[in-house]
Amino acid sequence: MSASAPPRKRAALTPPGEREAETSRNTALRINGARLQQRIAQLAEIGAIDGGGCARLALTDADRAGRDQVCDWMRELGLAVTVDAIGNVVGVRAGRQSGAAVMTGSHIDTVRTGGRFDGNYGVLAGLEVIATLNDAGIVTEHPLAVAFFTNEEGARFAPDMMGSLVYTGALPLGEALATRGIDGTTVGEELQRIAYAGPAPVPAAAPRAFIELHVEQGPVLDREGTQIGVVESVQGISWTEIEILGTSNHAGTTPMALRRDAGWVAGAIIHFVRELAQEVGGNQVATVGRIEFFPNLVNVVPNRAVLTVDLRNTDEARLQMAEARLAAHLDALRDAEKVDIATRSLARFAPVPFAAQMCDRIEHHARTQGLSTRRMPSGAGHDAQMLAAVCPTAMIFVPSVDGVSHNVREHTHPEHVEAGANVLLAVLCELAGATPPAGALA
Ligand code: GLV
Ligand code: MN
Ligand code: MN
Repeated sequence: MSASAPPRKRAALTPPGEREAETSRNTALRINGARLQQRIAQLAEIGAIDGGGCARLALTDADRAGRDQVCDWMRELGLAVTVDAIGNVVGVRAGRQSGAAVMTGSHIDTVRTGGRFDGNYGVLAGLEVIATLNDAGIVTEHPLAVAFFTNEEGARFAPDMMGSLVYTGALPLGEALATRGIDGTTVGEELQRIAYAGPAPVPAAAPRAFIELHVEQGPVLDREGTQIGVVESVQGISWTEIEILGTSNHAGTTPMALRRDAGWVAGAIIHFVRELAQEVGGNQVATVGRIEFFPNLVNVVPNRAVLTVDLRNTDEARLQMAEARLAAHLDALRDAEKVDIATRSLARFAPVPFAAQMCDRIEHHARTQGLSTRRMPSGAGHDAQMLAAVCPTAMIFVPSVDGVSHNVREHTHPEHVEAGANVLLAVLCELAGATPPAGALA
């Protein structure tokens, strides 16, 4: 993929003095936790899989059904819903002023073995904030928007965060639409097929600010019993597809020294990246998550193997070092086994810092609500890292039980689900300038 730098437009936020006044007026306002849980459960029924999880790969029929449900909820809440040319959906609640909206949101596509919280929580918490403001009769100064972005997961079509990349202008629409997925279809064909290639233009105008609420998907908050993560950055991501071409031959008759075994080379790469992560150290992680052998038969030396490597690090220099070491190892394997090896970059994102003043506001509101906080980087990729290039952005994390995610066992306790949404409510009220009718927030 090519990702040119998007235009950087940064809107000014409300001055601190006015902020404090708004904040104290908004402290008594709370979301309805039961209503939020109900929507999370209802959305999880679409594409439900054994164990309580979801399979709604981007642009599948299940994704379409999930989209339809969330769009219905948006309209029921009075939001003006638009769909853009890459299928991102934005629901806007008008403010006293027109102009850029304060935006929240995330994604509703899942990996094939996903949980019910990843992405969905942030979108549905955004709707819960809207419902809460509607119930209280609160009008904000600036419009509020809830968005869900297309193909955040990247599990079917790479790169991940595709919708938010196109939204912010970092990935050309044509390139995104032409992307071929793991099942041979293209993004453009599948968007048309599920009727989510909309008329709204991309790149879109930058929001006034963006804040994404998400489950942590890692063990840090759960282990130390902290309620809210103030996410200051997202680590760098490097995805590479590696294709190895050897020679297929008889498994019983071909002497080991005469083999050009694509399968063995694939195995050597898997072994190597684990060692690589340990050697590079720090918080380097490395994963081979997808692999295919050809012809994939018990008694045939594989002539072709395709696998993916996912490398991540919060430190760009270390991430580049890991990439260089992997490339050198591929050269060594090419020589040792006399195979051909081709690589293709599926996604490459440098680490992204979030806006300090946004992090401060999250921390402030969480503490005002009596919640414990810790500042932390995100190990997972998120749409917020793309929005950060065009407007003040940050993220709120809540604990994931045992740090499990991309797994049907993914779970966040109801009190944490509710607490995160209440922090989101308070931050959005401040950023959008909430003006409560007399007595509504007492
Ligand atoms: C998205 O979920 C990613 O971080 O892979
Ligand atoms: Mn996610
Ligand atoms: Mn995910």
